[in-house]
Amino acid sequence: MGKVYVLDHPLIQHKLTYIRKKTTGTKEFRELVDEVAALMAFEITRDLPVEEVQIDTPVVEGAKAKMLSGKKIGLVPILRAGLGMVDGMLQLIPAAKVGHVGLYRDPETLQPVEYYVKLPSDIEERELIVLDPMLATGGSANEAIHSLKKRGARQIRLMCLVAAPEGVEAVQEEHPDVDIYLAAMDEKLNEKGYIVPGLGDAGDRLYGTK
Ligand code: PRP
Ligand code: URA
Repeated sequence: MGKVYVLDHPLIQHKLTYIRKKTTGTKEFRELVDEVAALMAFEITRDLPVEEVQIDTPVVEGAKAKMLSGKKIGLVPILRAGLGMVDGMLQLIPAAKVGHVGLYRDPETLQPVEYYVKLPSDIEERELIVLDPMLATGGSANEAIHSLKKRGARQIRLMCLVAAPEGVEAVQEEHPDVDIYLAAMDEKLNEKGYIVPGLGDAGDRLYGTK
């Protein structure tokens, strides 16, 4: 079964509190999501392999140092709201390629509907990080992960800001090979499929729509 990591760092939790507040406006919301994504990038990349290299510093020649050992990363935001996490991630992983999966959740059935997929050509070689601020029923994340696997993806992680236990269980059940990274695990879903206490509709809050 996939592991669940809640990144309980004081800076992440502090910023997440402002993200949740209903008085936080679009500009500040977007900046904070960016900042939290960058902080989460730091944690989600903790286990990337490094190799020893030799470098010349201004003081000595042939000093031992470490560099990332070539693991290729791909970021896959689920449109729309996942886009809000891309720049923050790219600040720390600038060489990552970015694919996109477009899904929306039908408001009546809560089922995900796929409308767009564009991915790097070598996804089977990349460690893919699926980005979406919200993991509610898990339908969208599960569908996005299916879509990636169908096209050859082999290593996938899921990174969300806020999750409901129902969504985490759904992903663990359908994709036991996928580890999940969260800023917070919330209490539950309400009758409309919103995460409680949550932060509302992430896409609307990021882009000022309703
Ligand atoms: C939101 C959110 C997730 C999905 C989560 O997207 O960004 O993709 O809902 O819900 P689920 O776990 O129950 O599938 P939405 O469908 O509102 O689309 P948007 O990003 O375009 O606003
Ligand atoms: N999608 C959102 O944007 N927010 C929720 O709480 C649930 C699904």
